Amino acid sequence: MTDSPLSARKILLIVGGGIAAYKALELVRLIRKAGGEVRALLTPAGAEFVTPLSLASLTGHPVRQTLFMPDDETTMGHIELSRWADLVVVAPATAGLIAKAANGMADDLASTTLLATDKRVLLAPAMNVRMWLHPAVHANVERLKGFEGDHGMAVVGPDDGEMACGEFGPGRMAEPAAILDAIIETLRGPADRPLAGKRAVVTAGPTFEAIDPVRGLTNRSSGKQGYAIAAALAALGCEVTLVSGPTALATPNGVKRIDVEGALEMQAATEAALPADVAVLSAAVADWRVDTIAGGKIKKGPGGPPTLSLIENPDILAGIAAPGPRRPALVIGFAAETTDLEANARSKLSRKGCDWIVGNDVSADVFGSDGNTVLLVTAGATESWPRQSKAEIARALALRIADHLSKA
Ligand code: CTP
Repeated sequence: MTDSPLSARKILLIVGGGIAAYKALELVRLIRKAGGEVRALLTPAGAEFVTPLSLASLTGHPVRQTLFMPDDETTMGHIELSRWADLVVVAPATAGLIAKAANGMADDLASTTLLATDKRVLLAPAMNVRMWLHPAVHANVERLKGFEGDHGMAVVGPDDGEMACGEFGPGRMAEPAAILDAIIETLRGPADRPLAGKRAVVTAGPTFEAIDPVRGLTNRSSGKQGYAIAAALAALGCEVTLVSGPTALATPNGVKRIDVEGALEMQAATEAALPADVAVLSAAVADWRVDTIAGGKIKKGPGGPPTLSLIENPDILAGIAAPGPRRPALVIGFAAETTDLEANARSKLSRKGCDWIVGNDVSADVFGSDGNTVLLVTAGATESWPRQSKAEIARALALRIADHLSKA
């Protein structure tokens, strides 16, 4: 990415009323540093938290505050302002602003501008956790996201954590750097989004097969490669469901994540995510689970260690790849091997019925590391990719997927 990803892009920033409004000042700085131009619109409630002078100084432009100001309307009217922008960003987006936008209300400068704009809108919600979790807010946000075409609003955050009011949970406005990423993402054109309208299901991470309430069988998969693939597919415009075993990773932007533990749960969630155009099953699924999970903690005793009786887990990949009306057009599996990588990957390709296998040699430094060396094995060819970061592998794979689906 260049240093000026927003070069010559115009952002209209609507600053609503909330303690997070101070972060809007940092956001202005980041947008300008990324090459963008910002004009700000401050609501009366927003002006209780930041001053018009701060915003004017940082944006380098006068700040609009009310609907009926003859001076403002002669320089740049509010309708013109809403059209001037390439993107309208609302940060913080309060429950009130969200409710007005979701219902087409236009009774002040911010809501009128949101209704009058012909550009996309990105919301960075910020509110008390109870408010955010209220079904009314949830319904309004879903409604805004679901409006047709460019009227569908993009949403970044809110984050989880401690809030200014002392409560914990989701509601804190996304950090300015994350909002900047979302701005760059939302401004990308159709050529940058070749997977728009396509759906993917990705599995990632280890599975955790419970033995008793406190113990389980698992493995050393970090989930990094699978998460990177989910992020890379979403960045190309794909609608991604990520079915994840236990990991310490953050959910990539624009990805719907479903947390699971055992293989059976992962299988059910993966199948429930169908139909999909592509399935990328990168999870390190445990081959076995105990046949009966103990209801209470297994205690040490005079009889010595317990004997665990294991049964085989279902093969999620083979199930998804089996012929049928719900089979995705492209099914991709992974082969983690310590010896004979190509031969093992190729035999997995036919045994599991998938279209491509990404083979990786796990004898070296792979688990938890940021780099990886892979082979891409398809029915007709084997390609050896140079060692590169997991993010680069993910991007290359996502582009290959886009290319394949465009020809399918
Ligand atoms: N896989 C799966 N369900 C399983 C086991 C594996 O979906 N129960 C998928 C993995 O997500 C991966 C591929 O199958 O995409 C290969 O996984 P791997 O563990 O390498 O293969 P195994 O089937 O376990 O084969 P083996 O034990 O022979 O290495």
